[in-house]
Amino acid sequence: MKGIVLAGGSGSRLYPMTASVTKQLLPIYDKPMIYYPIATLMLAGIRDILLITTPKDIERYVDLLGDGARWGLNITYAVQPRPDGIAQAFIIGEEFLGGAPSALILGDNLFFGSGLRQRLVNAAALEQGAHIFACRVDDPERYGVVELDADQRPISIIEKPRQPLSNWAVTGLYFFDGQASEIARQLRPSPRGELEISDLNATYLARGTLTVERLGRGYAWLDTGTPETLMAATQFVCALETRQGIKIACLEEIALSQGFITADTFARMAASAPVSAYGRYLKTLLSDLEIEARPTPLRVVGA
Ligand code: G1P
Repeated sequence: MKGIVLAGGSGSRLYPMTASVTKQLLPIYDKPMIYYPIATLMLAGIRDILLITTPKDIERYVDLLGDGARWGLNITYAVQPRPDGIAQAFIIGEEFLGGAPSALILGDNLFFGSGLRQRLVNAAALEQGAHIFACRVDDPERYGVVELDADQRPISIIEKPRQPLSNWAVTGLYFFDGQASEIARQLRPSPRGELEISDLNATYLARGTLTVERLGRGYAWLDTGTPETLMAATQFVCALETRQGIKIACLEEIALSQGFITADTFARMAASAPVSAYGRYLKTLLSDLEIEARPTPLRVVGA
């Protein structure tokens, strides 16, 4: 399965924070926002990633992420000239996908929860149809909203409804079979002039091949579109990381645990990491690895 990260948009609701820095490069606590969606794709086992961004911002992403090889990834780039909608990612990414199934994640979506990796791995095994995640929110009118029947099967999906039929928002993480590009090409722009991801999902729904998985209690799904939600995401990550002494979305750590890089590559990166809390964390992980790798001392029987 291939992955697409869509990091477009003008971030106007975050102006002037986004006047010269693109939204998805703003920090969520201790790392750039874009690390979180990339981490999510990595946890799903995805290594081939297309990052789609604006003509103005592409160089900054290349500067930060390069070709992704240091995390065992293969990151390539494409441009979305205008914010013409999320579903356009499948038209822009058609050649990259080459008819393969794909996962699309929005560059400002952050997922966290116990058991998330397994759920992502299961979703990434998809070959036919579409699979999306829904989370309960208090303000569904801001999102794509899915209505579910008593058996949790989807009945309708509506983008930013005035009168939402449920509180289940569709998150910005979507798994599609190899037909997504073809379907996206047939979509017509919505009244707000965009190729809507909700219309793409609705097409799969109409074909009876859309499954919806609810992320209930124990999962955090945060988006970061306003100063308040950006701050809330920062506070969430800060609280967990400082309490537990572990990092969320540490790409080097995930690359190692997924087997995308060798322990030697990790050791080199950790040894040369800059002096920051993030760099220190890598060094701590490195010394843990070295301890684990030490041969068990021989016990002298009877000593
Ligand atoms: C987009 C999608 C919406 C989805 C949301 C998740 O909204 O259009 O269906 O629920 O992402 O973050 P936007 O961020 O463009 O307002």
